[in-house]
Amino acid sequence: MAPIKPSPHLSNVRYEIRGALTRRAREMEAEGLPIIKLNIGNPARYGFQTPPHLREAIAAKLTESEAYGHEQGLEEARAAIADLQRARGARGVDMDRVFIGNGVSELIDISLRALLQPGDEVLLPSPDYPLWSAATILNGGRPRYYRCLPENGHLPDPAEIESLITPRTRALVLINPNNPTGAVYPRALLEQIVAIAARHRLLLLCDEIYDEILYDGAVFQPLAEVAGDVPCVSFGGLSKVHRACGYRVGWMSLSGDPARTAEYRDALQLLAALRLCANATAQWAVVPALQGAPTIHALTAPGGRLHEARRAVIEGVAASDYLELAAPEGALYAFPGVRADRLPVFDDGAFALRLLEQESVLVVPGASFNVPASRQFRLTLLPQPEELREVFVRIERVLAAMAAEQPARAAAFA
Ligand SMILES: Cc1ncc(COP(=O)(O)O)c(C=O)c1O
Repeated sequence: MAPIKPSPHLSNVRYEIRGALTRRAREMEAEGLPIIKLNIGNPARYGFQTPPHLREAIAAKLTESEAYGHEQGLEEARAAIADLQRARGARGVDMDRVFIGNGVSELIDISLRALLQPGDEVLLPSPDYPLWSAATILNGGRPRYYRCLPENGHLPDPAEIESLITPRTRALVLINPNNPTGAVYPRALLEQIVAIAARHRLLLLCDEIYDEILYDGAVFQPLAEVAGDVPCVSFGGLSKVHRACGYRVGWMSLSGDPARTAEYRDALQLLAALRLCANATAQWAVVPALQGAPTIHALTAPGGRLHEARRAVIEGVAASDYLELAAPEGALYAFPGVRADRLPVFDDGAFALRLLEQESVLVVPGASFNVPASRQFRLTLLPQPEELREVFVRIERVLAAMAAEQPARAAAFA
Protein backbone atom coordinates (compact mmCIF):
# COMPACT_ATOMS: atom_id res chain seq x y z
CA MET A 1 0.00 0.00 0.00
CA ALA A 2 1.33 3.45 -0.90
CA PRO A 3 2.14 5.53 2.17
CA ILE A 4 0.13 8.69 2.87
CA LYS A 5 2.54 11.47 1.93
CA PRO A 6 2.43 14.85 3.68
CA SER A 7 2.28 18.01 1.61
CA PRO A 8 5.61 19.12 0.13
CA HIS A 9 4.75 22.59 1.48
CA LEU A 10 5.97 21.30 4.81
CA SER A 11 9.42 20.28 3.63
CA ASN A 12 11.12 23.50 4.80
CA VAL A 13 8.94 24.04 7.86
CA ARG A 14 10.55 23.50 11.27
CA TYR A 15 9.61 24.03 14.91
CA GLU A 16 12.57 22.63 16.81
CA ILE A 17 11.44 24.14 20.13
CA ARG A 18 9.14 21.13 20.28
CA GLY A 19 11.25 19.00 17.91
CA ALA A 20 13.65 16.05 18.06
CA LEU A 21 15.50 17.15 21.21
CA THR A 22 12.22 17.54 23.08
CA ARG A 23 11.12 14.09 21.96
CA ARG A 24 14.42 12.68 23.26
CA ALA A 25 13.80 14.48 26.57
CA ARG A 26 10.35 12.87 26.79
CA GLU A 27 11.88 9.42 26.22
CA MET A 28 14.38 10.08 29.00
CA GLU A 29 11.59 11.18 31.32
CA ALA A 30 9.63 8.05 30.47
CA GLU A 31 12.71 6.09 31.60
CA GLY A 32 12.45 7.90 34.95
CA LEU A 33 15.12 10.59 34.49
CA PRO A 34 14.11 14.06 35.72
CA ILE A 35 14.90 16.65 33.04
CA ILE A 36 15.39 20.38 33.64
CA LYS A 37 13.43 21.81 30.74
CA LEU A 38 14.47 25.26 29.60
CA ASN A 39 13.03 25.01 26.13
CA ILE A 40 9.59 26.62 26.24
CA GLY A 41 8.33 29.97 27.52
CA ASN A 42 5.34 28.41 29.28
CA PRO A 43 5.09 30.14 32.68
CA ALA A 44 2.45 27.87 34.25
CA ARG A 45 4.76 24.85 33.80
CA TYR A 46 7.22 26.58 36.17
CA GLY A 47 4.71 27.38 38.89
CA PHE A 48 3.64 30.85 37.74
CA GLN A 49 -0.09 31.48 37.96
CA THR A 50 -2.53 33.44 35.88
CA PRO A 51 -3.72 36.39 38.00
CA PRO A 52 -6.89 35.33 39.88
CA HIS A 53 -8.98 38.25 38.56
CA LEU A 54 -8.57 36.89 35.03
CA ARG A 55 -9.64 33.39 36.08
CA GLU A 56 -12.63 34.78 38.01
CA ALA A 57 -13.77 36.88 35.03
CA ILE A 58 -13.85 33.76 32.88
CA ALA A 59 -15.63 31.67 35.52
CA ALA A 60 -18.35 34.32 35.87
CA LYS A 61 -19.05 34.22 32.13
CA LEU A 62 -19.02 30.51 31.42
CA THR A 63 -22.70 30.32 30.58
CA GLU A 64 -22.38 33.32 28.28
CA SER A 65 -19.63 31.60 26.33
CA GLU A 66 -21.59 28.82 24.74
CA ALA A 67 -22.31 30.44 21.37
CA TYR A 68 -19.96 31.30 18.53
CA GLY A 69 -18.93 34.91 18.98
CA HIS A 70 -18.01 37.67 16.53
CA GLU A 71 -15.31 36.51 14.10
CA GLN A 72 -13.02 39.34 15.20
CA GLY A 73 -13.60 38.71 18.90
CA LEU A 74 -15.67 39.85 21.85
CA GLU A 75 -16.66 43.51 21.46
CA GLU A 76 -15.71 44.56 25.01
CA ALA A 77 -12.32 42.97 24.58
CA ARG A 78 -11.69 44.57 21.18
CA ALA A 79 -12.71 47.96 22.52
CA ALA A 80 -10.20 47.58 25.38
CA ILE A 81 -7.43 46.60 22.95
CA ALA A 82 -8.25 49.54 20.66
CA ASP A 83 -8.19 51.88 23.68
CA LEU A 84 -4.80 50.53 24.72
CA GLN A 85 -3.34 50.99 21.23
CA ARG A 86 -4.74 54.52 20.91
CA ALA A 87 -3.39 55.41 24.37
CA ARG A 88 -0.01 54.21 23.10
CA GLY A 89 -0.26 56.63 20.20
CA ALA A 90 -1.38 54.28 17.42
CA ARG A 91 -3.24 56.06 14.62
CA GLY A 92 -6.46 54.84 13.01
CA VAL A 93 -7.17 51.94 15.39
CA ASP A 94 -10.75 51.18 16.33
CA MET A 95 -12.40 47.93 17.28
CA ASP A 96 -13.11 47.07 13.63
CA ARG A 97 -9.38 46.97 13.13
CA VAL A 98 -8.73 44.64 16.08
CA PHE A 99 -8.75 40.86 15.72
CA ILE A 100 -8.68 38.39 18.59
CA GLY A 101 -7.31 34.93 17.88
CA ASN A 102 -6.46 31.62 19.49
CA GLY A 103 -3.13 33.00 20.58
CA VAL A 104 -0.84 35.27 18.60
CA SER A 105 0.16 32.04 16.83
CA GLU A 106 -3.09 31.87 14.89
CA LEU A 107 -2.94 35.57 14.03
CA ILE A 108 0.61 35.35 12.67
CA ASP A 109 -0.70 32.83 10.17
CA ILE A 110 -3.80 34.88 9.32
CA SER A 111 -1.83 38.12 8.90
CA LEU A 112 0.53 36.50 6.39
CA ARG A 113 -2.17 34.45 4.63
CA ALA A 114 -4.13 37.65 3.95
CA LEU A 115 -1.02 39.29 2.47
CA LEU A 116 1.16 36.93 0.49
CA GLN A 117 1.22 35.66 -3.04
CA PRO A 118 3.56 32.78 -3.97
CA GLY A 119 7.13 34.07 -4.13
CA ASP A 120 6.51 37.22 -2.09
CA GLU A 121 9.30 38.00 0.35
CA VAL A 122 9.07 38.76 4.05
CA LEU A 123 11.93 40.34 5.98
CA LEU A 124 12.45 38.39 9.18
CA PRO A 125 14.96 38.72 12.01
CA SER A 126 17.67 36.11 12.43
CA PRO A 127 17.32 34.78 15.07
CA ASP A 128 13.55 34.71 14.72
CA TYR A 129 10.66 33.17 16.60
CA PRO A 130 10.40 30.24 14.18
CA LEU A 131 6.64 30.39 13.70
CA TRP A 132 7.21 33.58 11.68
CA SER A 133 9.41 31.65 9.22
CA ALA A 134 7.07 28.66 9.17
CA ALA A 135 3.97 30.78 8.53
CA THR A 136 5.76 32.71 5.77
CA ILE A 137 6.71 29.47 4.01
CA LEU A 138 3.32 27.81 4.54
CA ASN A 139 1.64 30.82 2.94
CA GLY A 140 3.83 30.66 -0.15
CA GLY A 141 6.27 33.39 0.92
CA ARG A 142 10.06 33.45 1.10
CA PRO A 143 11.83 34.49 4.29
CA ARG A 144 14.71 36.94 3.82
CA TYR A 145 16.67 37.24 7.04
CA TYR A 146 18.25 40.36 8.48
CA ARG A 147 20.84 39.65 11.16
CA CYS A 148 20.57 40.65 14.81
CA LEU A 149 24.14 39.99 15.89
CA PRO A 150 25.24 39.52 19.52
CA GLU A 151 28.07 42.05 19.06
CA ASN A 152 25.38 44.63 18.21
CA GLY A 153 23.29 43.77 21.29
CA HIS A 154 21.13 41.62 18.96
CA LEU A 155 19.79 44.78 17.31
CA PRO A 156 19.35 44.85 13.53
CA ASP A 157 21.26 47.12 11.15
CA PRO A 158 18.74 49.22 9.18
CA ALA A 159 21.16 49.45 6.22
CA GLU A 160 21.24 45.67 5.99
CA ILE A 161 17.44 45.49 6.18
CA GLU A 162 17.13 47.94 3.31
CA SER A 163 19.74 46.11 1.22
CA LEU A 164 17.59 42.96 1.31
CA ILE A 165 14.52 44.60 -0.21
CA THR A 166 13.51 43.49 -3.70
CA PRO A 167 10.42 44.20 -5.82
CA ARG A 168 8.90 41.08 -4.19
CA THR A 169 9.26 42.28 -0.58
CA ARG A 170 5.88 42.81 1.08
CA ALA A 171 6.40 42.94 4.83
CA LEU A 172 8.94 43.60 7.55
CA VAL A 173 8.62 41.62 10.77
CA LEU A 174 9.96 42.85 14.10
CA ILE A 175 9.85 41.04 17.43
CA ASN A 176 10.16 43.53 20.27
CA PRO A 177 10.95 42.73 23.10
CA ASN A 178 12.67 39.90 21.32
CA ASN A 179 12.39 36.16 21.60
CA PRO A 180 14.97 34.55 21.64
CA THR A 181 17.49 37.31 22.41
CA GLY A 182 15.75 39.55 24.95
CA ALA A 183 16.73 42.67 22.96
CA VAL A 184 14.48 45.72 23.40
CA TYR A 185 14.53 48.06 20.40
CA PRO A 186 15.29 51.75 21.00
CA ARG A 187 13.01 54.37 19.49
CA ALA A 188 15.71 55.79 17.18
CA LEU A 189 16.16 52.36 15.58
CA LEU A 190 12.41 51.92 15.16
CA GLU A 191 12.23 55.32 13.48
CA GLN A 192 14.82 54.20 10.93
CA ILE A 193 12.94 50.96 10.33
CA VAL A 194 9.63 52.77 9.86
CA ALA A 195 11.30 55.09 7.33
CA ILE A 196 12.42 52.03 5.36
CA ALA A 197 8.90 50.58 5.43
CA ALA A 198 7.51 53.93 4.24
CA ARG A 199 10.07 54.25 1.40
CA HIS A 200 9.38 50.75 0.11
CA ARG A 201 5.66 50.56 0.93
CA LEU A 202 6.07 47.53 3.21
CA LEU A 203 3.58 46.35 5.80
CA LEU A 204 5.07 46.40 9.29
CA LEU A 205 4.27 43.35 11.43
CA CYS A 206 5.37 43.83 15.02
CA ASP A 207 5.17 40.96 17.48
CA GLU A 208 4.91 42.70 20.87
CA ILE A 209 3.72 39.75 22.94
CA TYR A 210 6.40 40.52 25.59
CA ASP A 211 5.57 44.24 25.70
CA GLU A 212 5.56 44.60 29.49
CA ILE A 213 8.29 42.12 30.38
CA LEU A 214 11.22 44.49 30.86
CA TYR A 215 14.28 44.52 33.15
CA ASP A 216 16.55 47.13 34.68
CA GLY A 217 14.74 50.18 33.37
CA ALA A 218 14.42 49.05 29.76
CA VAL A 219 11.69 51.00 27.92
CA PHE A 220 9.30 49.42 25.46
CA GLN A 221 8.39 51.59 22.48
CA PRO A 222 5.21 50.44 20.70
CA LEU A 223 5.90 50.42 16.97
CA ALA A 224 2.43 51.67 15.99
CA GLU A 225 3.08 55.07 17.54
CA VAL A 226 6.32 55.54 15.60
CA ALA A 227 4.70 54.16 12.43
CA GLY A 228 1.99 56.86 12.38
CA ASP A 229 0.28 56.56 9.00
CA VAL A 230 2.50 53.69 7.82
CA PRO A 231 0.43 50.48 7.86
CA CYS A 232 1.36 48.42 10.88
CA VAL A 233 -0.03 45.31 12.57
CA SER A 234 0.79 45.09 16.29
CA PHE A 235 0.45 41.75 18.09
CA GLY A 236 -0.14 41.20 21.81
CA GLY A 237 -1.71 38.62 24.07
CA LEU A 238 -2.37 37.01 27.41
CA SER A 239 0.16 34.19 27.18
CA LYS A 240 3.27 35.82 28.61
CA VAL A 241 2.60 39.12 30.41
CA HIS A 242 -0.49 37.55 32.02
CA ARG A 243 0.94 34.02 32.27
CA ALA A 244 -2.07 32.46 30.55
CA CYS A 245 -0.59 30.46 27.63
CA GLY A 246 -3.29 27.81 27.89
CA TYR A 247 -6.14 30.28 27.48
CA ARG A 248 -5.01 30.80 23.87
CA VAL A 249 -5.88 34.49 23.61
CA GLY A 250 -3.90 36.86 21.41
CA TRP A 251 -4.79 39.94 19.43
CA MET A 252 -3.61 42.07 16.54
CA SER A 253 -4.53 45.63 15.72
CA LEU A 254 -4.13 47.37 12.40
CA SER A 255 -2.94 50.97 12.50
CA GLY A 256 -1.95 53.56 9.91
CA ASP A 257 -3.75 55.19 7.00
CA PRO A 258 -7.13 53.36 6.82
CA ALA A 259 -7.44 54.06 3.09
CA ARG A 260 -4.28 52.04 2.40
CA THR A 261 -5.27 49.10 4.55
CA ALA A 262 -9.03 48.80 3.91
CA GLU A 263 -8.75 45.82 1.53
CA TYR A 264 -6.22 44.10 3.75
CA ARG A 265 -8.52 44.59 6.74
CA ASP A 266 -11.38 42.98 4.84
CA ALA A 267 -9.17 40.03 3.93
CA LEU A 268 -8.29 39.57 7.60
CA GLN A 269 -11.97 39.62 8.46
CA LEU A 270 -12.75 37.01 5.82
CA LEU A 271 -10.05 34.68 7.15
CA ALA A 272 -11.26 35.28 10.71
CA ALA A 273 -14.83 34.45 9.66
CA LEU A 274 -13.75 31.21 7.95
CA ARG A 275 -12.63 29.85 11.29
CA LEU A 276 -15.83 31.23 12.93
CA CYS A 277 -14.32 32.74 16.07
CA ALA A 278 -11.59 32.35 18.64
CA ASN A 279 -12.19 30.52 21.93
CA ALA A 280 -15.07 32.57 23.34
CA THR A 281 -14.61 31.65 27.01
CA ALA A 282 -11.11 32.92 27.50
CA GLN A 283 -11.73 36.29 25.81
CA TRP A 284 -13.52 37.42 28.99
CA ALA A 285 -10.08 37.72 30.57
CA VAL A 286 -8.96 40.49 28.19
CA VAL A 287 -10.72 43.47 29.84
CA PRO A 288 -9.54 42.62 33.38
CA ALA A 289 -6.04 41.92 32.02
CA LEU A 290 -5.78 45.30 30.27
CA GLN A 291 -7.73 47.43 32.73
CA GLY A 292 -6.97 45.76 36.08
CA ALA A 293 -3.87 46.37 38.19
CA PRO A 294 -0.68 45.22 36.41
CA THR A 295 0.75 42.02 37.85
CA ILE A 296 3.96 41.50 35.89
CA HIS A 297 6.09 44.23 37.47
CA ALA A 298 6.35 42.44 40.81
CA LEU A 299 8.08 39.63 38.91
CA THR A 300 10.42 41.76 36.80
CA ALA A 301 11.47 44.30 39.46
CA PRO A 302 14.56 43.65 41.67
CA GLY A 303 13.70 40.83 44.10
CA GLY A 304 11.02 39.50 41.71
CA ARG A 305 11.36 35.98 40.47
CA LEU A 306 12.05 36.78 36.81
CA HIS A 307 14.51 39.50 37.75
CA GLU A 308 16.42 37.11 40.00
CA ALA A 309 16.34 34.35 37.39
CA ARG A 310 17.82 36.74 34.86
CA ARG A 311 20.48 37.71 37.37
CA ALA A 312 21.33 34.02 37.92
CA VAL A 313 21.80 33.62 34.16
CA ILE A 314 23.97 36.74 33.84
CA GLU A 315 26.11 35.59 36.77
CA GLY A 316 26.28 32.04 35.40
CA VAL A 317 27.65 33.38 32.11
CA ALA A 318 30.06 35.76 33.86
CA ALA A 319 31.52 32.85 35.86
CA SER A 320 31.90 30.66 32.76
CA ASP A 321 35.18 30.14 30.90
CA TYR A 322 33.32 29.60 27.64
CA LEU A 323 30.15 31.69 27.50
CA GLU A 324 29.26 35.25 26.56
CA LEU A 325 25.93 37.03 26.64
CA ALA A 326 24.27 40.26 25.60
CA ALA A 327 22.12 40.52 28.73
CA PRO A 328 18.40 40.30 27.93
CA GLU A 329 16.55 43.55 28.56
CA GLY A 330 13.10 42.05 28.14
CA ALA A 331 11.04 38.89 27.44
CA LEU A 332 11.55 35.48 29.04
CA TYR A 333 14.80 34.20 27.54
CA ALA A 334 18.56 34.50 27.36
CA PHE A 335 20.58 33.65 24.26
CA PRO A 336 24.16 32.99 25.38
CA GLY A 337 26.91 32.20 22.89
CA VAL A 338 30.01 30.02 23.14
CA ARG A 339 33.21 32.02 22.65
CA ALA A 340 35.15 31.15 19.51
CA ASP A 341 38.49 31.88 21.22
CA ARG A 342 37.73 29.27 23.92
CA LEU A 343 36.00 26.60 21.87
CA PRO A 344 36.85 27.10 18.18
CA VAL A 345 34.96 24.04 16.96
CA PHE A 346 31.37 24.20 18.17
CA ASP A 347 28.18 22.61 16.93
CA ASP A 348 25.16 23.95 18.79
CA GLY A 349 23.00 20.89 18.03
CA ALA A 350 25.65 18.43 19.23
CA PHE A 351 26.13 20.54 22.37
CA ALA A 352 22.41 20.63 23.17
CA LEU A 353 22.09 16.85 22.68
CA ARG A 354 25.07 16.21 24.92
CA LEU A 355 23.76 18.59 27.59
CA LEU A 356 20.50 16.68 27.54
CA GLU A 357 21.95 13.17 27.57
CA GLN A 358 24.79 13.78 30.03
CA GLU A 359 23.32 16.46 32.27
CA SER A 360 19.54 16.14 31.81
CA VAL A 361 19.18 19.80 30.79
CA LEU A 362 17.08 20.72 27.75
CA VAL A 363 17.93 23.95 25.89
CA VAL A 364 17.20 25.00 22.29
CA PRO A 365 20.14 25.34 19.88
CA GLY A 366 20.43 28.69 18.11
CA ALA A 367 20.03 27.07 14.69
CA SER A 368 16.38 26.41 15.63
CA PHE A 369 15.85 30.18 15.38
CA ASN A 370 17.16 30.35 11.82
CA VAL A 371 20.69 31.41 12.69
CA PRO A 372 23.26 29.90 10.29
CA ALA A 373 26.40 28.44 11.94
CA SER A 374 25.02 29.34 15.34
CA ARG A 375 27.23 29.31 18.43
CA GLN A 376 24.24 30.17 20.63
CA PHE A 377 21.50 28.44 22.56
CA ARG A 378 18.32 29.69 24.17
CA LEU A 379 17.14 29.05 27.69
CA THR A 380 14.08 30.43 29.46
CA LEU A 381 14.21 32.60 32.56
CA LEU A 382 11.24 30.76 34.05
CA PRO A 383 12.87 28.24 36.45
CA GLN A 384 13.72 29.19 40.01
CA PRO A 385 17.03 31.11 40.23
CA GLU A 386 18.66 28.24 42.23
CA GLU A 387 17.81 25.81 39.48
CA LEU A 388 19.35 28.11 36.88
CA ARG A 389 22.53 28.30 38.96
CA GLU A 390 22.68 24.50 38.91
CA VAL A 391 22.06 24.52 35.15
CA PHE A 392 25.15 26.67 34.60
CA VAL A 393 27.29 24.24 36.61
CA ARG A 394 26.12 21.48 34.30
CA ILE A 395 26.61 23.54 31.14
CA GLU A 396 30.17 24.34 32.21
CA ARG A 397 30.93 20.64 32.71
CA VAL A 398 29.82 19.84 29.18
CA LEU A 399 31.70 22.76 27.64
CA ALA A 400 34.86 21.88 29.58
CA ALA A 401 34.61 18.28 28.35
CA MET A 402 34.15 19.52 24.77
CA ALA A 403 37.16 21.82 25.13
CA ALA A 404 39.29 18.98 26.50
CA GLU A 405 38.42 16.90 23.44
CA GLN A 406 39.27 19.58 20.90
CA PRO A 407 43.05 19.12 20.64
CA ALA A 408 42.50 15.39 20.28
CA ARG A 409 39.90 16.01 17.60
CA ALA A 410 42.17 18.45 15.78
CA ALA A 411 44.97 15.88 15.88
CA ALA A 412 42.64 13.22 14.51
CA PHE A 413 41.97 15.41 11.46
CA ALA A 414 45.66 16.32 10.98
C1 LIG B 1 7.58 36.06 19.86
C2 LIG B 1 6.39 35.18 20.06
N1 LIG B 1 5.30 35.37 19.31
C3 LIG B 1 4.22 34.59 19.44
C4 LIG B 1 4.18 33.55 20.33
C5 LIG B 1 2.94 32.71 20.43
O1 LIG B 1 2.11 33.19 21.42
P1 LIG B 1 0.64 32.68 21.71
O2 LIG B 1 0.69 31.86 22.94
O3 LIG B 1 -0.16 33.94 21.88
O4 LIG B 1 0.19 31.90 20.51
C6 LIG B 1 5.29 33.30 21.13
C7 LIG B 1 5.31 32.18 22.08
O5 LIG B 1 6.27 31.82 22.67
C8 LIG B 1 6.42 34.14 21.00
O6 LIG B 1 7.51 33.97 21.74
